[in-house]
Amino acid sequence: MSDESRPHRTAAVIPAAGRGVRLGPGAPKALRTLGGTPMLIHAVRAMARSRAVALVVVVAPPDAAATAEVRRMIDEHALPERTEILVVPGGETRQESVRAGLDALPADITAVLIHDAARPLVPVDTVDTVVEAVRDGAPAVVPALPLADTVKEVEPGRPGEPEPVVATPVRARLRAVQTPQGFDLATLRLAHEKTAVDGEGATDDAGMVEQLGVTVVVIPGHEEAFKVTRPLDLVLAEAVLARRRATDAY
Ligand code: CTP
Ligand code: MG
Repeated sequence: MSDESRPHRTAAVIPAAGRGVRLGPGAPKALRTLGGTPMLIHAVRAMARSRAVALVVVVAPPDAAATAEVRRMIDEHALPERTEILVVPGGETRQESVRAGLDALPADITAVLIHDAARPLVPVDTVDTVVEAVRDGAPAVVPALPLADTVKEVEPGRPGEPEPVVATPVRARLRAVQTPQGFDLATLRLAHEKTAVDGEGATDDAGMVEQLGVTVVVIPGHEEAFKVTRPLDLVLAEAVLARRRATDAY
């Protein structure tokens, strides 16, 4: 699907600048290992495995030591040679980190994937499906899955206090969104320009594009694209990796 003669190139931006507070004390989340390899390297490989991705921009934790550590890690691990990899320092919020990644993209990039470093195991087929939908003309594409749990909207109270329920959305209409999210680059740049960083900032790029009035489409996500957020997610990620290594010489 990647056509070298086309002037349009697709890049992937990997926000990896978060601390991983919910995972507990330790190194920044993206630098922690899964199966002996840093989570960030798994995420870079997941993007580089797609032939459509010509360039990967890794957004590293902002302090100089961590940024240098990320560069060293990337240089130390085997990655496809056809993929160019840049490292830039991130910001205080995910929104600012993504913005820093977008600012580093060269002029010939016309489409971009934004992919959480915290989703190290996304299969290449999901990446390719997102890229294809963008190349077919969708300005914003999000992989997502139906929910297992019913969701309640509540009036948030103090931690541990009972919270009144406000509404119960129909579960069949809800989707849990994943990454990589794919965008026409000009559309995503505009969304970032128009959205001020408020508090913790936007945690979802597609949500910012929705605010422009642009249609965002959902395509099927993948169970293995789950986000490593809490300690139990590490157990699951290790199990998925072990199964892959046993079954397909991963
Ligand atoms: N991220 C980022 N810059 C930030 C905050 C988050 O690049 N200032 C990235 C994280 O590195 C991660 C992705 O955004 O790959 C999704 O965020 P999340 O899962 O919330 O990771 P953390 O913010 O690191 O975790 P926590 O919220 O538990 O601290
Ligand atoms: Mg976070």
